[in-house]
Amino acid sequence: MSSTVFNADKAHIEADWWRAAVIYEVYVRSFSDANGDGTGDLAGVRSRLPYLRDLGIDALWFSPWYLSPMADGGYDVADYRAIDPAFGTLEEAEGLIAEAAAVGIRTIVDIVPNHISDQHAWFRAALAASAESPERERFWFRPGRGIGGIEPPNGWISHFGGPAWSRTRDPDGRPGDWYLHLFAPGQPDLNWEHPEVRTGFEEILRFWFDRGAAGVRIDSAALLVKDPELPDVGEGRSPESHPFIDRDELHDIYRGWRVVADSYADPRVLVGEIWLDDHERMTRYLRPDELHSAFNFDFLVCPWDPKHLRASIDATIEAHLPVGAPPTWVLSNHDVTRPVTRYGRADTSFSFQAKRHGVPTDLELGTRRARAAALLAMALPGSFYLYQGEELGLPEVETIPLDRIQDPMHFRTGGVDPGRDGCRVPLPWKGSEPPYGFSPDVVETWLPQPKDWSRLSVAAQETDPGSMLALYQSALSLRRRYLSRLPSPLEWMASPSDVLSFRRGAFACVANLSLEPFPLPAHKELLITSAEAIDGNLPPQATAWLHLSESTTDQPEWEIAAGTFSHTTEGVIGG
Ligand code: GLC
Repeated sequence: MSSTVFNADKAHIEADWWRAAVIYEVYVRSFSDANGDGTGDLAGVRSRLPYLRDLGIDALWFSPWYLSPMADGGYDVADYRAIDPAFGTLEEAEGLIAEAAAVGIRTIVDIVPNHISDQHAWFRAALAASAESPERERFWFRPGRGIGGIEPPNGWISHFGGPAWSRTRDPDGRPGDWYLHLFAPGQPDLNWEHPEVRTGFEEILRFWFDRGAAGVRIDSAALLVKDPELPDVGEGRSPESHPFIDRDELHDIYRGWRVVADSYADPRVLVGEIWLDDHERMTRYLRPDELHSAFNFDFLVCPWDPKHLRASIDATIEAHLPVGAPPTWVLSNHDVTRPVTRYGRADTSFSFQAKRHGVPTDLELGTRRARAAALLAMALPGSFYLYQGEELGLPEVETIPLDRIQDPMHFRTGGVDPGRDGCRVPLPWKGSEPPYGFSPDVVETWLPQPKDWSRLSVAAQETDPGSMLALYQSALSLRRRYLSRLPSPLEWMASPSDVLSFRRGAFACVANLSLEPFPLPAHKELLITSAEAIDGNLPPQATAWLHLSESTTDQPEWEIAAGTFSHTTEGVIGG
């Protein structure tokens, strides 16, 4: 396989493509099933490339497709160089990367460096070896506390609930040391002080970059380094001294990764999954010699409220400016409640601690707001991420029978947390009943699909100009043609406090979060609205994009952008 897929076509090489890109997350298991076993696969994705091309995206981010026992939906990797047989083969992955590139879509693979699967060769060797053996040094094995070591080494709690430690058995069958897992027991944490862990992952990066991957999404990127003393988290600990979140030593690891990414003729891109409340600490990872960008979770969890949204937008842009990195705008992913459901509830924020599963939900209102939110997010300077099914306005599925739930988050909380399966249900492509063309035949899909998804299928929405899919297609097309070259940062325009209104040169975005229609400012052209404007008034819970009249601007960028379609992104934030 060529190490430079994109070198084959110089037109694709635009060093800063990622600064204003639209990146689509494919959760492989639920995207499209070609072999008819009820689980999505790479051949299924391949067959849908025309759909993805027509949607108007720049890159795909694939959730982990590697060999895995699926203790956490593939985020428990047994071999980073092999594709899970449920999804296909390495040759198919290479073919998919190349075919996607041929239609102008780059590929980002998901790298999981904080932990591996308990079935990975390193961990199996560690378990087979004795307590003090070098094989165990790649992990965090420790004796337990208390008489007979029956208590875990410290009080850390797993992200999925319960202790972050599990006890091993020695070869003679007696209880042995404990090992650390910040997630499920099938995901032992790696010791990033170990040189082989570091070099091992740099080799994994090269392995995928050599196969044409344009970048990596880095899973749980702020968790890798632990305080070697393993102290309890304790009350009142400052964020700077947390024993396993956002430790300063991480930056050196990512500087090493940047060297690898930059060693390619068409440099590869590093995208971090960094859940940190502090914008300044988050954007430290985006300094010029570290990661390229990171998901904006502050915006994702934000309630549908003008004050919060504006504060989040301002804080995001302000924090990114000094490091010269583009902000990202994200409304959903495979871990969080689907937007149409979330925005249809009384409390529209998202929190892992309070999923509000099953509370009254007005899906019509939620859909209206999700449409408005999509146009708002796509209009902001930087890159935009969307998660498969968001473009179809799929709701969170809250009716999955208990015996079909797969997410460890559900089980580790003793069933208190509904888990994340509700946003991972297989996509509906066509037809009036499950599996809605997801699988070629009538089979039981790995998670059951609701009976009323026919109207949400791709086929149904493709012929409906008022559908969520039509909105995404049109908006992404406009965004590509005009917005990615517009000046930034944005300028807020005068408006009532419950209307968000900003301009970027001759382009303006107006989001009406009030209860009343809002008169749109003077404009040359109404480009798109999430709900029909009547007599120049934008209805409540709707967003409009405008080309402002010539008299309101002296910016020439609009006309330049309109005339020359290009992926290049001069003039974007920090650029
Ligand atoms: C990330 C992933 C999530 C996974 C976790 C552990 O947060 O997005 O799905 O469970 O990491 O790998």
